[in-house]
Amino acid sequence: MSDTDPRVRAKEEAGRHAAGYVTDGMRVGLGTGSTVHWTIVELGERAPDIICTATSVQTHDLATSLGLRVVSPDEIGALDLTIDGADEVDPSFNLTKGGGAAHTREKIVAAMSARFIVVVDETKLVDALGPFGTPLEVLDFAPGVVQRAVRAMGAADVTTRDIRSDNGNLVMDAQFGTIADPVALATALALIPGIVEHGIFPGSMVERVVVAGATGVRELVNDRR
Ligand code: 5RP
Repeated sequence: MSDTDPRVRAKEEAGRHAAGYVTDGMRVGLGTGSTVHWTIVELGERAPDIICTATSVQTHDLATSLGLRVVSPDEIGALDLTIDGADEVDPSFNLTKGGGAAHTREKIVAAMSARFIVVVDETKLVDALGPFGTPLEVLDFAPGVVQRAVRAMGAADVTTRDIRSDNGNLVMDAQFGTIADPVALATALALIPGIVEHGIFPGSMVERVVVAGATGVRELVNDRR
């Protein structure tokens, strides 16, 4: 392990563990963030015979620097497996993603994938989505209009980050408090013109969550898919 901070160690454990699901011949989606970073490092070390697609410039650059073959989503066509991190995981496997502003590409890649495995340290497990905020990628044509629409849906606040997504769009964070029905909120957000993508991923997308923490690594398997 490369760090004594327990949370950093947990991220490495979860990330490296999930790489065990990758076998020769697979088409693999690579997520974005400091946990899946370790999945990519492990794959670089093991060098399986795989083709990958990446969910961000950061991941593309890391994976290619480690010798992994990375092609565009269109070139790869479909994926056997995607591994990615999350900012929140609720008991129904619903996710908040987008802490790294990559959720649009992450959702496209996850949706292309037969299997979607999430890697987190245990601080990401929550009783209900919401405390992290809900990331939104927003076209900068009418950001104020989008903010008003999101507030009208019940967000107490909607702030704009200083950075843009890899797609060149604005990134906002909406504060809905505790989200009682993430799937309903996801559906409603998807209907707001100007929101390119939101960071709620329904649990139906998720096969399993690899969680690492003080007691080691465990897996939460989604039997309800
Ligand atoms: C990026 C994401 C990340 O997967 C999420 O922010 C988790 O990151 P980390 O593993 O660094 O905690 O959604 O948009």
